[in-house]
Amino acid sequence: MSLETLADLFHDELRDILSAEKQLVKALPKMAKKASSEQLSKAFEDHLQETERQVERVEQAFAETGKTPRAKECAAMKGLIEEASSMMKEKADADVMDAALIACAQKVEHYEIATYGTLCTWAQKLGYEKALELLKENIDEEEKADQKLTQLSGQINAAATT
Ligand SMILES: [Fe+2]
Repeated sequence: MSLETLADLFHDELRDILSAEKQLVKALPKMAKKASSEQLSKAFEDHLQETERQVERVEQAFAETGKTPRAKECAAMKGLIEEASSMMKEKADADVMDAALIACAQKVEHYEIATYGTLCTWAQKLGYEKALELLKENIDEEEKADQKLTQLSGQINAAATT
């Protein structure tokens, strides 16, 4: 597919984030299992449920493009998850591992926030009102998830210091 218009680019980027979210649905249970802090584990499980709904919203956001929802492998998310997987194999103190899990998760959230930010800007430009609404819901959830991780990192990093 060639990218001739902003609409083509929007569609291509939507396929990227659909792949990213789907990859995350598979990775989050492993991160929840690996976390020692109950609060951190719960934050990952809560975000898994949100991510499942985000996949649905992204699929719905395809409607105005007139094309069927189809993911295109997001290499960036694949790389972020690969880094998290190899980090999870390290021998580490429980609190230090939790601090590392937060770092991996926040990289993921920031990647998603960047992508949704771009998608919202393009949806607005293209007059895709329904897509804009759906994508805004997702970016709001990602921002809240990121803030939750920052909040948890306060106590976890303190524990990892000692
Ligand atoms: Fe997400």
